[in-house]
Amino acid sequence: MEEQDRSSQSRPPHVLIFPLPLQGHINTTINLAELLAIAGFKLTFLNSHHNHKRLVKFNNIAAHFERYPGFEFKTITDGLPLDHPRSGNWFLDMFEDTMEPKMKQSLREVLVNSSPPVDCIIADWFLGFALDVAKEVGIPIIFFCTSSPCCFWVYYSIPDIIQAGELPINGSEDMDRLITTVPGMETYLRCRDLPTFCRKLDIEDSIMKLIVKQTRKSLQADALILNTAEELDGPILSQIRTKCSRVYAVGPLHAQLNTRLNAKHGESYDHISNTLWEVDKSCIFWLNKQPNRSVIYVSFGSIASMSREQLVELWYGLLNSKTKFLLVVRPNSVIGKDGEGEDVVMELMEKSKDRGYIVNWAPQEAVLNHPAIGGFFTHNGWNSTLESVVAGVPMICWPQFADQHVNSRVVSVVWKIGLDMKDVCDSKIVEKMVNDVMVDRKEEFAKSASEMAKVTNQSVNVGGSSYSNLDCLVEDIRIMSWKKLTK
Ligand code: UDX
Repeated sequence: MEEQDRSSQSRPPHVLIFPLPLQGHINTTINLAELLAIAGFKLTFLNSHHNHKRLVKFNNIAAHFERYPGFEFKTITDGLPLDHPRSGNWFLDMFEDTMEPKMKQSLREVLVNSSPPVDCIIADWFLGFALDVAKEVGIPIIFFCTSSPCCFWVYYSIPDIIQAGELPINGSEDMDRLITTVPGMETYLRCRDLPTFCRKLDIEDSIMKLIVKQTRKSLQADALILNTAEELDGPILSQIRTKCSRVYAVGPLHAQLNTRLNAKHGESYDHISNTLWEVDKSCIFWLNKQPNRSVIYVSFGSIASMSREQLVELWYGLLNSKTKFLLVVRPNSVIGKDGEGEDVVMELMEKSKDRGYIVNWAPQEAVLNHPAIGGFFTHNGWNSTLESVVAGVPMICWPQFADQHVNSRVVSVVWKIGLDMKDVCDSKIVEKMVNDVMVDRKEEFAKSASEMAKVTNQSVNVGGSSYSNLDCLVEDIRIMSWKKLTK
């Protein structure tokens, strides 16, 4: 009977999908949106004016999504003027007072004026205000966590860590102390693996409070989507499920999208590029000339910056190692006085000609899957971490902020597919770690990384855990929207 009623619903569910206006969040959310479009949903992707302009400028995004008749981009303000540089610590500093009120108002307007009406909202877990708006207008909401589940769980547990007296941290000698109050991580999480804002002595820190607030609020939604697989984060998923009964682990999303696109259209199908920077594909031609597994790829994502001194230490370590390197240095990501940062990049480029290749922005997925790549020197942003896992590339971890410190701990001691260089930037250590991963312990790391890649890739194949979880999510959204229509 229910089946009959549902089939009488004349239109597909309309989902509004709303990412946080940052690169690492947008690309994963676009992947999720495309997977739901493949399932036949009508999709409205709500982007900021600023990011949409860049997406359209550097990618084939508009043409790509034309093939999904129900797919539409809408843009709203992120609360900042279009010419704001959006660099440095702009995001967390401006979020609550400047960005949130404007985005909240715009979201409300889009929902109220939407035709056909929106049946379900999927919002980034950090956009807690979307829950208030969803309740106001009576639309089911699912939060999507683009960061790692381990870090999400640490964020959730911070009040308990404080309550147990394990925070604040008492100086540098305390950094290796184990944190025992995060269930599931008692044996490996140290003070130095906590998000960097936990290093402040002030347990009333406003950024810490904001992140804890958003995490706890996201668990009040109808469900939570996580970009991971049961096989990667099973023990932590079990912990999160004690706080939210509907948790869908559907990742790694970029790999799941590749599986479903290939099944639908074959290998030659063009895949979406969704970056906010102009990609320099010349590095692929350079990689084509290098022997198999001989090059280390070095990149620190879309937000992290480094000082001139750190770049020089890193560069000397790479240069003195026995390995060639492909290094990404984003424009304006090296901090120095009066253009010193840019000058040093030019100088290093000139000096490294026969040992390395430097670009502003690389086609990262293609690079990680290139046979010449044998290791990834990464900041452990969650997307980069998952892309490395899927490609079976061992990592050297140099985390900077947010979820990256927890992620590097998981990579090195739980998954055992890399080394953690946390809190250090010394050319001798860089050299030693690169030689370990690329030469001296090459086979050991290659073996563990390829085993991890195998189980992860199986999870997104037909019958795998993430594949089945996505099917459940799709079905549950259909049921949610059908219930909303028949209310
Ligand atoms: C940060 C966080 O650290 C991350 O964990 C969180 O989920 C989002 O915010 P970011 O610094 O952008 O993210 O890192 P990451 O999550 O790794 O995302 C970077 C993305 O940019 C990756 O998908 C990567 O493939 C892409 N990239 C990076 C390129 O395409 N080219 C490059 O040269 C560098």
